Amino acid sequence: MNREVIIACDFSSAAELYAFLDRFGEERPFVKIGMELFYAEGPAIVREIKRRGHKIFLDLKLHDIPNTVKRAMAILSGLNVDIINLHAAGTIEMMRAALEGLTRPDGSRPLLIAVTQLTSTSEQRMREELLIDHPINEVIVHYAENAKAAGLDGVVCSPLEAGMVKEACGKDFLTVTPGVRFAGGSAGDQVRITTPARARELGSDYIVVGRPITAAKDPLAAYRRCVEEFGG
Ligand code: C5P
Repeated sequence: MNREVIIACDFSSAAELYAFLDRFGEERPFVKIGMELFYAEGPAIVREIKRRGHKIFLDLKLHDIPNTVKRAMAILSGLNVDIINLHAAGTIEMMRAALEGLTRPDGSRPLLIAVTQLTSTSEQRMREELLIDHPINEVIVHYAENAKAAGLDGVVCSPLEAGMVKEACGKDFLTVTPGVRFAGGSAGDQVRITTPARARELGSDYIVVGRPITAAKDPLAAYRRCVEEFGG
């Protein structure tokens, strides 16, 4: 398995994204496109970034009834992205339907990964608002096991959770992990953070890095530092 650095391109317009990517010269980093950019610019932004030769993680976190998710995934599959995601909370049936929708007539498909519990959800809120009365780590591992049972390729999680997910679901079950910062860098609003090197040690397959690269004075140098520390 090749470890890869994915840049979270949290920009609000195509113009900002292109200006950012133009600073990478011939380099074509793996990019994450999320709801903000996708809702602002539509599928055209995905086609253009793909045309430029980037791999894409389309972070839209689908969560709806199985039939709706299946049909939406069939449309998104046509964009030829490399990774796409959904909420494991939608049930195993929804995740299976998503896989069906995503699979192209020739049998190929993007990697499909699940969000377990958002890192913004605390154990207290989970218990008091969602009435989920288990320790959050148990919930994360259980949702990861559900994703595996449905045939998904992995989960989005904190690097600090990667070990327990691998232990429960096997070493080939992918962990895609945000919450990465350089040693001595600003944490921003992230709480549980690790460095790229530590994320590698903890078993992350892909790290998702936003502001340490997008807000750097020299984004290309920051990206290269990340790749070097995380290892290819
Ligand atoms: O700028 P920063 O490195 O914090 O960006 C992290 C990216 O990963 C953002 O796009 C954020 O929405 C996303 N993410 C996260 N935590 C999760 C899931 C996604 O930080 N649990």
